[in-house]
Amino acid sequence: MSRQLHRCFASTGTLFLWALLLVTTTGTYLSFRSFVDTSSSRYFPASWGGLHWERQIRASASPRRPPGSPEGAGLSVLLTGAAGFIGAHCSLALRKRGDGVVGIDNFNSYYDPSLKKARRALLGSHGVFVVEGDINDGRLLTKLFDVVPFTHVLHLAAQAGVRYAMENPASYVHSNIAGLVSLLEACKDADPQPAIVWASSSSVYGLNDRVPFSESHRTDQPASLYAATKKAGEEITHTYNHIYGLSVTGLRFFTVYGPWGRPDMAYFSFTRDILQGKPITVYRGRDHVDLARDFTYVDDIVRGCLASLDTAGRSTGTGGKKRGPAPYRIFNLGNTSPVTVPTLVAILERYLRVNAKKHVVEMPGNGDVPFTHANISLAREQLGYKPTTSLEMGLKKFVRWYLSYYGYNRGTHEFNNHYL
Ligand SMILES: NC(=O)c1ccc[n+]([C@@H]2O[C@H](COP(=O)([O-])OP(=O)(O)OC[C@H]3O[C@@H](n4cnc5c(N)ncnc54)[C@H](O)[C@@H]3O)[C@@H](O)[C@H]2O)c1
Repeated sequence: MSRQLHRCFASTGTLFLWALLLVTTTGTYLSFRSFVDTSSSRYFPASWGGLHWERQIRASASPRRPPGSPEGAGLSVLLTGAAGFIGAHCSLALRKRGDGVVGIDNFNSYYDPSLKKARRALLGSHGVFVVEGDINDGRLLTKLFDVVPFTHVLHLAAQAGVRYAMENPASYVHSNIAGLVSLLEACKDADPQPAIVWASSSSVYGLNDRVPFSESHRTDQPASLYAATKKAGEEITHTYNHIYGLSVTGLRFFTVYGPWGRPDMAYFSFTRDILQGKPITVYRGRDHVDLARDFTYVDDIVRGCLASLDTAGRSTGTGGKKRGPAPYRIFNLGNTSPVTVPTLVAILERYLRVNAKKHVVEMPGNGDVPFTHANISLAREQLGYKPTTSLEMGLKKFVRWYLSYYGYNRGTHEFNNHYL
């Protein structure tokens, strides 16, 4: 009896040891997979795919320019960051002139996603379909290129904002580095390869103090992680141009503003706070020098983006192999007339008919630069780029949009959201 009991315990013990080994091995395997396999579908839930979805993609991507139209055959553009501020404007402009556009956006919550959804609704009403997905999702990108032979990619998806980089640095690496590489991989594998136009930033000029900023100036002294990721993007796109023959145009935007803008930007948050009777913080540089920005109205930027798409030469590679040199271009898209932040506030006060409660403080060392000023000769010469909207006029349009979108009851200072 005692021998039987002993044998029974011995076999239960062995069984237990085997079970333990199995559980540990499975656990180790799973954690290893989650460490190395960030592109697996577990991270990007498949809210896409299926026949109906493919039909929507094809319809949205089809150009609608009448045959023989003076602008030639329409483009078929994959537009990343389509639910973003500049992305939504560019999508609409392309659609309006008869090009095909498919958007992709991950609707992240860096700022109120309901504003992104409202922009998507606006695009939807003009026949532009926006896929909810992340540019790091290689399977989704491959699928999109399988369904549509896009002629161009307008890549505007990014983690924007200079100061937020100190709070959430990983989001900049995720979207501006890893996401960019994921997109370029899909583009270089696509057949035909699309031409790529993408958003860099004036922030790459960093600590450069020669003005106005010209494309030939040094850009190796970024003042923020955001700027560093945009500069890295310029180097990364150069590599893909060099190895795979992708046609690349990088656009250095200078402080873009306008209707449907970004709530994290000063002109937008000043408007909100002034209307709500809250104090606004106005930063000042060293020695009491006012900060200045080369504010550029969104319609001018859109024209620069479309001109870049129209003039982008072809990519030369096929099957991931370069067949010849392809264009690599970089342009400043600014307004060439910097305006100080106190002047911006004064214009807003006039249009809002409310005096701001200003709290003037010295600029903290958070990555902001004291001024930006664009030299746009190159873009003028090669793209025919010519900004036409003054800050006065642009802010007037912004304020009109702001009041109609959020609603404003002067008596109670209450806001009503009229999302589309
Ligand atoms: N607005 C400016 O003043 C300015 C100045 C210089 C450069 N830029 C650049 O222009 C581009 C557009 O800027 P914006 O002002 O419209 O910003 P935005 O934040 O409104 O638009 C970016 C969009 O990209 C999406 N996105 C971010 N990461 C993504 C990811 N991994 N996958 C899919 N979608 C993702 C966001 O949800 C957002 O809708 C950005 O690349 C930005 O860095 C903007």
